[in-house]
Amino acid sequence: MTQSPQRVAIVTGAARGIGAATAQRLAADGLAVAVIDLEEAAAKGTVDAIEAAGGRALAVGADVSDAEQVQAAVTRVAEELGAPTVLVNNAGVTRDNLLFKMTESDWDTVMGVHLRGSFLMARAAQKYMVEQKWGRIVNLSSTSALGNRGQTNYSTAKAGLQGFTKTLAIELGKFGVTANCIAPGFIVSDMTRATAERIGEDWDTYVAARAKEIPVARAGQVEDIAHTVSFFVSEGAGFVSGQVIYVAGGPKA
Ligand SMILES: NC(=O)c1ccc[n+]([C@@H]2O[C@H](COP(=O)([O-])OP(=O)(O)OC[C@H]3O[C@@H](n4cnc5c(N)ncnc54)[C@H](O)[C@@H]3O)[C@@H](O)[C@H]2O)c1
Repeated sequence: MTQSPQRVAIVTGAARGIGAATAQRLAADGLAVAVIDLEEAAAKGTVDAIEAAGGRALAVGADVSDAEQVQAAVTRVAEELGAPTVLVNNAGVTRDNLLFKMTESDWDTVMGVHLRGSFLMARAAQKYMVEQKWGRIVNLSSTSALGNRGQTNYSTAKAGLQGFTKTLAIELGKFGVTANCIAPGFIVSDMTRATAERIGEDWDTYVAARAKEIPVARAGQVEDIAHTVSFFVSEGAGFVSGQVIYVAGGPKA
């Protein structure tokens, strides 16, 4: 029996948090994984964990909002790991503030990483997917897309990613490429820890308060999101496209 070649995935913002868990999960599923983050050295930790578990991975430093760095990163992945046919747009930042205090830089930074970053990555990677007539794109939205106080920038970007996903699904479907969106609720990560710190709340108290609002009565873990990515990326999910799934322990967090 001939063995089919190993699929290659790119996960952005995968030095830590949801991205790191997703990279490790896809590697455990049998894919080679490019771990992209701002600093190559930071991405190396995830690569080491994947390799220690017997997987294949590559650390790449790139700012996803920079077109030249994105193109260089995707080309390097294709040369060193193989043609990337799975893309998880996970890199993200928050710059929370009430509207009257939000600066133009807060707005532009969040749009740059989430929207411009996902656009640049998808544009660079789609070539390999179209060539192979197979691909999977998963974009990270958020329950904040439904509106969240202090996050006009972030909720706009996360709602925008849902429209972006649906349009990718329509444009790329005939090439065997699916595009789907995951909208996590409250997930324990450095991002949510930073939010608790910023508003001056004790972390355990903060998590307990969030869990109280969640129907399954617990905070989300990074593995909850990695599991959902794994489903969208799986061979059997080829008829699921243009969808937004809220992974929030209930209809929404
Ligand atoms: N944690 C949550 O509760 C939650 C909820 C909903 C959605 N999300 C989304 O899930 C994704 C991951 O969140 P997380 O909680 O793991 O965050 P995190 O802050 O722990 O990790 C984000 C990673 O993205 C990287 N990154 C930031 N800007 C980048 C850039 N320009 N180029 C490349 N890498 C960059 C960071 O260095 C970091 O490693 C984000 O898109 C976030 O908005 C998180």
